[in-house]
Amino acid sequence: MRSLKDKKIVAGICGGIAAYKTAGIVSKLVQAEAEVQVIMTHAASQFITPLTFEALTHRKVFTNLFQDDPLAHVELAHQTHLLIVMPATYHVIGKLASGLADDMLTTTLAATRAAVLVIPAMESQMYTNPIFQENCRKLRALGYRFLGPESGYLASGRAGIGRFPDEEKILKEIETIFVDHSLLSGLRILVTAGPTREMLDPMRCLTNKSSGKMGYALAEQARTLGADNVLLISGPTQLQPPEEVDFLKVESAEEMREAVLAQEKNFDVIVMAAAVADWRPKRISTHKIKKLSTSSLTIELERTPDILHILSQKKRKGQCVIGFAAESENVIENAREKLRKKQLDLMVANSLIQENAGPESETNEVTLIHKNGRSEPLPVMDKREVAYEILRRIARLAKSK
Ligand code: C5P
Repeated sequence: MRSLKDKKIVAGICGGIAAYKTAGIVSKLVQAEAEVQVIMTHAASQFITPLTFEALTHRKVFTNLFQDDPLAHVELAHQTHLLIVMPATYHVIGKLASGLADDMLTTTLAATRAAVLVIPAMESQMYTNPIFQENCRKLRALGYRFLGPESGYLASGRAGIGRFPDEEKILKEIETIFVDHSLLSGLRILVTAGPTREMLDPMRCLTNKSSGKMGYALAEQARTLGADNVLLISGPTQLQPPEEVDFLKVESAEEMREAVLAQEKNFDVIVMAAAVADWRPKRISTHKIKKLSTSSLTIELERTPDILHILSQKKRKGQCVIGFAAESENVIENAREKLRKKQLDLMVANSLIQENAGPESETNEVTLIHKNGRSEPLPVMDKREVAYEILRRIARLAKSK
């Protein structure tokens, strides 16, 4: 979450049972090097103590409008980049919508012109109450940003709408508020992801361990960063396609080739993050291969078409083609050689024998190889952040063409 570094964030904690979940979020924001100031309502401190947040943020928590500096709320309101109200209760949303300000949190909210993210959580009957819904509508129309609530298990033991969203979802939303939403504007981006599956017979196949996480993160971030159009072409994965991204599902390297070549002319940037098979069975048996009395079975393989190579051959002026190289040895040298051979604009190299990286991991550690051969190692980061860093370089590349 590099986009959060040095951002001034006010976390306004209200008195709902989900208050205990906000400690994890505050901790993650601090770890991302945001400057977090916590304000708690009186009711919030019935659920969780200020001490918890003081330990996490190393700052005094504001709980009382009149306790310390009487102008603290005005100063905070001016300095902050983002105010988060979580869990936003029926009462606090009611006060906000009515223009009432009688404590540290609501006076700071009244005085700020910064972005405000409201994350409501409460029992379904309260959430669906028409008065409350009217208040939310009013705040939305005034530019307040809302996230959640979700449906699921509630503290009462019932199930329904009103549940506080998952930590990861909230952090993603916060991060989204700070990114440059026009970084990729004017660019149409095609991303491939996942493994391919090369059938041997109707049941068996050759595939690889790619999870698709890196490619899906690239497609999602490309959308967030304002690309005009994003198409994700994916081999078989367990992942949900990102929202607002066009999606095409393929299975084999041949299907991937057909899909990419049919689409490439509509895109300015092509990122081949898919782990496309290099080999496939020369013959696909129409029937399941029988267990024979012999103790071994020989399968003849043939090369699949190298999509990246074909793309680089027909690349039109101004188009950017980016490759990935997963290597188990001589990572940089091999990736540099592939970049040269396939005439790519950028190569993303990663080692298959690294900790904190690999197909299943949520994090990745990559080295970018630039066209002039320069290698640029990036630190271990969440795959979403790696995607952001790659796309930042792509934006520069594409705009300089
Ligand atoms: O040469 P190697 O397969 O290691 O190169 C990996 C890069 O080439 C990846 O970007 C992958 O998507 C692409 N590739 C391809 N067609 C293939 C095999 C790999 O485009 N048949």
